[in-house]
Amino acid sequence: MKVGSIKELSPEKRLSITPDTSKSFKNLGLSVFLEKGYGDDLGYTDKDYINNGVEILNNSDDVLLKSDLICKVNFPNENEFKKLRDNSHLIVSNYNPEKEKIFVKDKVKIFALNLLPRITRAQSMDVLSSQANLAGYRAVIESIYEYQKAIPMMMTAAGTVPAAKVLVVGAGVAGLQAIATAKRLGAIVSATDVRLTAKEQVESLGGKFLSVEGSENLETKGGYAKEAGEDFKKKQSEMLENAASKNDIIICTALIPGRPAPRIITEKMIDKMKPGSIVFDLAVTQGGNSAYSEIDKIIDKKGIKIIGISNVMNKLPLTASNLYAKNLFSFVRNLYSREKKQFVINLEDEIIKSTLLKE
Ligand code: NAI
Repeated sequence: MKVGSIKELSPEKRLSITPDTSKSFKNLGLSVFLEKGYGDDLGYTDKDYINNGVEILNNSDDVLLKSDLICKVNFPNENEFKKLRDNSHLIVSNYNPEKEKIFVKDKVKIFALNLLPRITRAQSMDVLSSQANLAGYRAVIESIYEYQKAIPMMMTAAGTVPAAKVLVVGAGVAGLQAIATAKRLGAIVSATDVRLTAKEQVESLGGKFLSVEGSENLETKGGYAKEAGEDFKKKQSEMLENAASKNDIIICTALIPGRPAPRIITEKMIDKMKPGSIVFDLAVTQGGNSAYSEIDKIIDKKGIKIIGISNVMNKLPLTASNLYAKNLFSFVRNLYSREKKQFVINLEDEIIKSTLLKE
């Protein structure tokens, strides 16, 4: 069976197959085809791929025509999609039904890795976790870049520099990495979440957990957040208004699966922050956790910067690609039968059933 990948359309910088995973595909018994210059932008040359058993083709059309399985980060555009072979397979990192539903036909079996169940067996394929972890890290780095003061406490002959205070809203995958990163850089870190199990995790990273007084645990059986009621929202708002005035950087990562991003940081809270403070809104593409946040913009409100970056992975595309490519390879290993020498769509396998798009 032949696996192929083509360059992503700009501005996406990540790629789906690295020289490392090319070798893994080969060891599994699959051939890999890539278009010329596939990894150039990330410093992976055609020779690096050839040395790992890849065949380089002249252009993307040749790859699309030849492959039984196409691996991509983003969904192909209409033009690319038309060129996919009948009965071929496609794996993408993310599926947006509002935009891409029209392409879901029987002709091509499409798998979207953002639909993977969060079960133990799927951990090595969990693209949402691998990428959100990096996003949490990078959100802190981007915030610090815009922040005009030092982060750690420094005692110098010229005086003492106080440590910056960082508040993380939402302590899931991205939030926990943001806490760990801010802590490593010397900030004083606090965090809040609607799931009370997050308290122990925040504290184990050296952060202070801010709980909403008298609140119930808003966690589903599957470990995700539930929508908060009005009483909770009011109490959380009061708690965060107080916290906003004391913190220099707020990193927003709150998410309730399948719902628009909960609006948590209000105009009033931002108004109470000190000039020079930063709000980084990782949830900006889902509507934002913060007032004023806009996609791919830095909004300045009386000296407080509200940052919204739609694809944080483009700020560290090499690491993001290396992890994504490994997630993707693990998925393919589960899909491919070495005995039958073909991809097997076993709908009794929860991983396959959950990720396969249906009309
Ligand atoms: P996650 O589901 O692991 O964590 C979200 C956390 O928010 C959970 O712990 C949940 O309990 C908490 N939460 C929900 N409602 C809350 C509320 N009202 N107050 C406080 N906490 C609340 O999600 P993950 O993977 O960490 O992603 C976080 C966000 O970052 C998502 O919106 C995701 O789409 C976004 N993201 C953005 C990227 C970008 O490039 N802009 C890249 C990766 C993730």
